[in-house]
Amino acid sequence: MPRPHSLSTHYPTAFLTGASSGIGCAIAEMLLAENVRVWGTARDIARLAPLVEKHPALFIPVALDLDNSDAAQAAFETASAEAAPGASSPSFDIVINNAGYGVFAPFADADFSLWKTQLDGMLITTTRLAHAAFRAMQACNRGCLVNVSSLAVDFSLPYMSGYNIAKAGLSALSASLAFEARGTGVCVIDFRPGDYRTAFNRAMQIPRANDSVCVASVWRTIDSQFNTAPLPARAASDLRRALLRGRSGTVRSGSFFQARLAPLVARLLPARLLRALEARYFGSP
Ligand SMILES: NC(=O)c1ccc[n+]([C@@H]2O[C@H](COP(=O)([O-])OP(=O)(O)OC[C@H]3O[C@@H](n4cnc5c(N)ncnc54)[C@H](OP(=O)(O)O)[C@@H]3O)[C@@H](O)[C@H]2O)c1
Repeated sequence: MPRPHSLSTHYPTAFLTGASSGIGCAIAEMLLAENVRVWGTARDIARLAPLVEKHPALFIPVALDLDNSDAAQAAFETASAEAAPGASSPSFDIVINNAGYGVFAPFADADFSLWKTQLDGMLITTTRLAHAAFRAMQACNRGCLVNVSSLAVDFSLPYMSGYNIAKAGLSALSASLAFEARGTGVCVIDFRPGDYRTAFNRAMQIPRANDSVCVASVWRTIDSQFNTAPLPARAASDLRRALLRGRSGTVRSGSFFQARLAPLVARLLPARLLRALEARYFGSP
């Protein structure tokens, strides 16, 4: 039975990329508990079997690889038509662009092809999905588009330049669309999680051993902070509240230090001081 004030009253259907793990999986569980029908993606749909088995009537697995942009858009269009059969402009009630991964390397050390692949997938394909979703939502004047960005937009992550660019770009896209959605029934959420304990660091692409003392020390700090970070159910619960509010804007999620204090400090401090503080925070000698 749907709970009173449950999300499914406002949003019966959702499309969610990267539902197989971490924050995406926690968001899928949160939506399914609210009786929302979820089309959730992974590159290999076998990874979605636990969600299918647990919620056979509500969860529909979709194969989607950000690295194949044409196929990703086609998968989204097919799922939209399934979710709203017969509609002239089929639209999901919620679309969440969550899928993503990190590449950890000094910018000049990694081949440019690695950064290009990351930007093509995480920024261009994601923007393409946002375009398809936003266009359909505008046509029926309702819906909520969520782009999962990162607190890396407030505080850039060292040796993750491609990731920082992709997330800054996504947040800029959300700001642009939030402006365009003013006065309509569509809302756009720029969701910025801080550290959450997921498979993200295990999936991190590290092109070669980091032989520099500085790079190795930063990685140790990032990894140890990650291992004590909150579990992703908290991010899902923050997103649930934002969806129920139904207002466009930026939503930061995570520990008090990362989600509240650090962004405030980042806004107030002069850039030079901020960089020194970042170096200290990340254990850079
Ligand atoms: N964890 C954090 O601390 C944190 C903080 C800020 C922002 N975020 C963002 O939150 C999102 C989810 O990350 P997570 O922490 O939950 O990581 P995760 O546990 O590694 O999950 C990543 C998800 O993205 C999918 N994915 C990865 N690369 C993909 C690709 N090339 N094409 C299609 N799908 C792909 C994975 O699916 P398959 O591998 O099954 O295909 C998986 O479902 C990401 O956008 C990440 O940048 C995470």
